[in-house]
Amino acid sequence: MTVPAEVPPVRAEVGLLALLQENGDLLLDEGLSVARELQLYRFALAEMRTKLAVLQDEITLSDDYNPIEHISARIKTPRSIAEKLRRRGHPLTLESMQANLDDLAGMRVICTFVSDVYRLLKVMDRHPDVAILTVKDYIAAPKPNGYRGLHAIVETPVHLAEASHPVRVEIQFRTIAMDFWASLEHKTYYKYDKTVPDALLRELTEAAEHAHELDLRMEAIHRQIRGGDDRAGGQ
Ligand code: GTP
Ligand code: MG
Repeated sequence: MTVPAEVPPVRAEVGLLALLQENGDLLLDEGLSVARELQLYRFALAEMRTKLAVLQDEITLSDDYNPIEHISARIKTPRSIAEKLRRRGHPLTLESMQANLDDLAGMRVICTFVSDVYRLLKVMDRHPDVAILTVKDYIAAPKPNGYRGLHAIVETPVHLAEASHPVRVEIQFRTIAMDFWASLEHKTYYKYDKTVPDALLRELTEAAEHAHELDLRMEAIHRQIRGGDDRAGGQ
C-alpha cells in the first residue's frame, strides 16, 4: 500500500532548516517545528480562502454583482523568511519568525472597484472568526512612488484536533488597475536591479495616477449602468 502524499509540504521547508542551521541558531527539533508551524499558516490560508469565497458568493447572489476578480495566496518561502529576519536584525528562530513576521501567510484579493475593497474589509470586520489587527491604507494615502493597495493583517483561528491556534494572515486588497501597476513596477525593479532610471520612476508614478483615475472613471460608469443603484459595490 502506498502512503498518502503528506510528505512534500514538510520536505519543502528543509531549505529553511538548512539556512537557519547555517546561522547556528536552530536545532533540528526546532527546525521540524518550523515545518509544522508553516503547515498552520497553510491551513489559515485555506480557511481565509473559504471565508472569502462564501462572502463572494453571498454578495454575487444578493446583489447580482461580483466584487472579487480573483484571489491568490502564498506561503513565504524559507529563503525569504530567513532574508527578512536577517535584514531586520532578528534572530533566526521559530519564536522570532512567529513574533516578527506578519506575512508568513499572504493573500492578494483583486477587486473590481475601489469601493469593493472597503466593502469587503467591513464585512470581514464583522466576521466572528476574523480579527483585523492592523490596516495600512495605501489607497487613501498612496506611497510616494504611486503604489496603491490596502494591506490588512488579520488573525483567524485554525482548529486542529488537539487545540485551536490563532494565525496571522496578510491580505493585500487591490483593484485590477492597482495590481496591473504593482506587477509592472515590481518587474521594473527586478530588471534594473533596484537602480531604476529617474525618468522611468517618474513615468511609473504618473502611470499610477492614471490607473487611479481609470479606477474612478470605471466605477462612475458602473454606477450609471446600475442606475445609481448603491448596492452595486457601494461603500
Ligand atoms: P515588507 O517588508 O515588504 O513586508 O514591508 P512592510 O511590512 O513595511 O509592509 P508594506 O505594507 O509596506 O508592504 C508589504 C507588501 O506590499 C510588499 O511585500 C509588496 O508585496 C507590497 N508593496 C508595498 N509597496 C509596494 C510597492 O511600492 N510596489 C509594489 N510592487 N509592491 C509593493
Ligand atoms: Mg509586510
